[in-house]
Amino acid sequence: MSSTELSHSAEGRSSDGGPIAAEAAATTIVPSSNGADWLSRYSSSLLGVFGAPQRVLVRGAGCLVWDADGKEYLDLLGGIAVNALGHAHPFVTSVISSQLSTLGHVSNFFTSPTQVALAEKLLEIAKAPAGSKVFFANSGTEAVEAAFKLARRNTGAGPDSGEAPRTKIIALEGAFHGRTMGALALTYKEAYRAPFAPLPGGVVHVPFGDIDALLAEIDETTAAVILEPIQGEAGVRPLPAGYLKAAREATSAAGALLILDEVQTGIGRTGKWLASEDAGIVPDAVTLAKGLGGGFPIGALITYGPEVSALLTAGQHGTTFGGNPVATAAALATLHVLENQQVLAHVREVGERLRAGLAGIDGVIEVRGEGLLIGFDLDADVAPAVVAAALDAGFIINSPGPHTIRLAPPLILTEAQADSFLAALPALLQTAKDAQ
Ligand SMILES: Cc1ncc(COP(=O)(O)O)c(C=O)c1O
Repeated sequence: MSSTELSHSAEGRSSDGGPIAAEAAATTIVPSSNGADWLSRYSSSLLGVFGAPQRVLVRGAGCLVWDADGKEYLDLLGGIAVNALGHAHPFVTSVISSQLSTLGHVSNFFTSPTQVALAEKLLEIAKAPAGSKVFFANSGTEAVEAAFKLARRNTGAGPDSGEAPRTKIIALEGAFHGRTMGALALTYKEAYRAPFAPLPGGVVHVPFGDIDALLAEIDETTAAVILEPIQGEAGVRPLPAGYLKAAREATSAAGALLILDEVQTGIGRTGKWLASEDAGIVPDAVTLAKGLGGGFPIGALITYGPEVSALLTAGQHGTTFGGNPVATAAALATLHVLENQQVLAHVREVGERLRAGLAGIDGVIEVRGEGLLIGFDLDADVAPAVVAAALDAGFIINSPGPHTIRLAPPLILTEAQADSFLAALPALLQTAKDAQ
């Protein structure tokens, strides 16, 4: 049987109870091997930018994944806040498959119903005013690139004012906005930036959470301020209460755009559609990606209101794959399930339970975040060792810093799954400390 026939017809369960189609198709296309073999072949064939992978994953179902040696893991990272509905969600996969077998790709000389419907849906959940628009990309960094270009068209006085576009963009220390050159210029970490200098100019970083420092930097030359409502890569650091509002007032007064990067925090991750939605502000632009496609690559830039939406005109930006029928269908399916199965309320409840449980564990000194974007600090610099111990014990977690652990599980994580991690954590911390 060919791999094509298999992928269309294979049904049933593998020996450990999971669906066999993906496993069967994969092992038909590529010879089967164990984890160690794949890792050695990885190091001979893939560029080393990610370092050595921790495991070789072959299959997932819900919040569980399995590696090439058959070991099961509870995925508390969700592909870094991506797998909103877990792995192999039946509705999302069936919508993707049905769209792909109907119309998989068209160029942006054309549109498709799923593209238009998704744009409308995003404008609705973002509560964007009339005249707001959407640009689709394929990733977070591309959504940020589009926002960067939007900012570079801002004159502060409207597109027809005849004034020169401004070039200064203010970002925060600790910010992560992506790895392409424009997004990298907004990203703070020196180790990511330095090898690629010179980056696009005009970007100023101000201390995180210090509203006075931000206000002192905003002036009539500022094109935009870009903020993550919660800094994800920096260890799940929420902006202080009132910060977004103060930033909105100051940017409006100066004619600067307020861009919110909700690539990690958006699409239900915090138990709200957008982490910024309770801040009482209307931003000028929001970037989305990660959870939006439920695991399928897609990014989006929302531009708020007609004036901001007029800043980028025909021919000033583009993409081959952005907004393709399959990615937009995947996102529509994801949003449909999140909405119709009340997943956001569930995220708030399970997130609260996890945070309360974590706060009671010896060795955990601070718990941060909202919904199912959670960071917690340990009383020792053992976070990487905790990640390794967790992996051995069947839990996937992440350490964005030496004493910080991040959890960003599928939004469908059950209470029992959350409790199983809480029950295991004290021993994982002990193992990590013993290994020091
Ligand atoms: C806030 C934020 N912006 C942008 C990005 C870049 O997204 P991507 O990795 O999809 O390019 C990330 C990724 O972690 C992110 O957390």
